[in-house]
Amino acid sequence: MNSDPIGVFDSGIGGLTVLKEIFRVLQQESTVYLGDTARVPYGIRSAETVVRYSFENTEFLVAKGIKLLVIACNTVSAVSLDAIKERLSMPVIGVIEPGARAAVKATKNNRIGVIGTEATINSGAYARVIQQIDGALDVFGLPCPLFVPLVEEGLTDDEITVMVAKKYLRQVRDKGIDTLVLGCTHYPLLKSVIGKVMGDTVTLIDSAIETVKEIRETLLRDSAECNALREPSRLFYVTDSPDRFKSVGERFLGQKIKTIEKIDIGL
Ligand code: DGL
Repeated sequence: MNSDPIGVFDSGIGGLTVLKEIFRVLQQESTVYLGDTARVPYGIRSAETVVRYSFENTEFLVAKGIKLLVIACNTVSAVSLDAIKERLSMPVIGVIEPGARAAVKATKNNRIGVIGTEATINSGAYARVIQQIDGALDVFGLPCPLFVPLVEEGLTDDEITVMVAKKYLRQVRDKGIDTLVLGCTHYPLLKSVIGKVMGDTVTLIDSAIETVKEIRETLLRDSAECNALREPSRLFYVTDSPDRFKSVGERFLGQKIKTIEKIDIGL
């Protein structure tokens, strides 16, 4: 039993899809969330820059006394997970491996598509993990950079998003995949549009759900889950003005965010 908080960071708001799942599944756990809203997006930056930002975010959360670190951002998980693991003695969980494992389980025709930011797809991280598990699987990666701003603008069910989805996703649909990994924090909010465009025969893998399964297993394995009967604390930190984070974040999270503190990082 350990009542220290779980630390979660993302390049901005998107990691709230993972946090929402933590709230649903691990209701007694306290959390500290850091959204690096001043430096988002990470998905178009070089690996070197993303690694540097990720170290600074990690340092901030470790200083908050966390017991486990969750890297909710696919881009950071793709380029910086191993480097962060090397620096810390606590468990560090990224979103790539859980999503990749679920995709391997789901595919029947051995053809898997992965969509994400340019940095995530260019890193080849999903393909690497999937093919380490089963070298016979074919993986088709596709960057979908317009999805992030569309989600942040709240256009999750808009016809513009349907048009963009049709244009992008044709490229993976034509490969005959039967499984598609939503390899970006924002994409679970587009599940309904992506599902319609891909059709019923394609299984969508939500990395957020798979990641929280792994967090739960890790806490149980280490006997580090919190069973305390008090209200868990839920802290939010951002690196830019909290206003936009609050309005867009409440939509992501499906609930009110009471307090958000702005901090300076890496200056
Ligand atoms: N959080 C990022 C990811 O999951 C998307 C937003 C960004 O590019 O920073 O890849």
